[in-house]
Amino acid sequence: KVYRASTTAPVNIAVVKYWGKRDAKLNLPTNSSLSVTLSQADLRTLTTASCSTAFQEDVLLLNGEPSDLGGARTQACLRELRDRRAALESKDASLPKLAAMRLLLVSENNFPTAAGLASSAAGFAALVRAIADLYELPSSPTELSLIARQGSGSACRSLFGGYVAWQMGSQADGLDSQAVEVAPASHWPEMRALILVASAAKKGVSSTSGMQQTVATSGLFQQRIADVVPRNMKSMEDAVAARDFAAFAEVTMRDSNSFHATCADTYPPIFYMNDISRAAVRAVEAINAAAGKTVAAYTFDAGPNAVVYYLEENKDLILGAFYPLLEKLDGWKDGAKGLKSNVQFDEAVSSTITSGVSRVIMTGVGEGPQKTDVY
Ligand code: DP6
Repeated sequence: KVYRASTTAPVNIAVVKYWGKRDAKLNLPTNSSLSVTLSQADLRTLTTASCSTAFQEDVLLLNGEPSDLGGARTQACLRELRDRRAALESKDASLPKLAAMRLLLVSENNFPTAAGLASSAAGFAALVRAIADLYELPSSPTELSLIARQGSGSACRSLFGGYVAWQMGSQADGLDSQAVEVAPASHWPEMRALILVASAAKKGVSSTSGMQQTVATSGLFQQRIADVVPRNMKSMEDAVAARDFAAFAEVTMRDSNSFHATCADTYPPIFYMNDISRAAVRAVEAINAAAGKTVAAYTFDAGPNAVVYYLEENKDLILGAFYPLLEKLDGWKDGAKGLKSNVQFDEAVSSTITSGVSRVIMTGVGEGPQKTDVY
């Protein structure tokens, strides 16, 4: 007999960034963070977990390719999940002995890996959730976030939809370093995200190693974790509660700038943003200036892709400004076709964006992991 469960999990993009570990083994962060979960219609991982006494070893197929399950972080997730299943089995002898069986994990993304988007958050969230469902663990998303966190920090936030905080916690055992829902997607469903893909290349310095170099060498980082992030977390929670886009946008942009400043203050320095990223910053500023108010916010992770948050009511302004530059690219949906705006970008900004962006993804806030029919 083969036992199976399937689930999807979303991508999330932080508006207050996680950057720094206080414990690399348990993957405990130096600061709390907050993210927006993006719609799974555009970006998601689908994972089927199965187990059987007939399986000889644990296997992971990622986008059709055999993939390594031996890493310490993946092993930590598998061990935690098996321990929880074994505890259930020891209490109820009628349960099938799944914890002792080998696992087959089949995982697929609905977006090209070549889009240069970090997929580890959706990947670990889907893996943990699929196995938890297979094992019928009575665990809440917050409880599962403690396991997903050990796979990849940002993955803990992908167990929820909407607006999600990862509370850094203070315990040495990490049991209070977990994700919680700040607000469901339905609280502020008008939030949209336009992703300008500036590089399909794998990032130069991985986040895992980059953040450890920052912790070890940056003085600015000390101020970020002691002062900047705690303030940004509070302002961001208030902005989301009040659905105050101008406040949301300012904190988002300031926090991205602060994170990239600590990267530049790392010794030797780390540069994730490039000329295309900086042109996107200028473009967002030009859009806001033309609108006479803040209608768009940029943020950048550990790579050059720009994520631009905006509200549905302002889509003509934002998409209209970028569409004429990028209309030949994949990813535009019908809603953006033919939009024109009166925003004038600098010639240098226009030409950098036109030549540098290779793909666009139009998406928005979305729901958390969904159980699906086994395929
Ligand atoms: C810049 O979650 O990829 O995207 O815990 O080492 O796997 P590990 O790091 P990861 O780091 C994400 C960093 C970030 C900011 C964020 O998502 O909060």
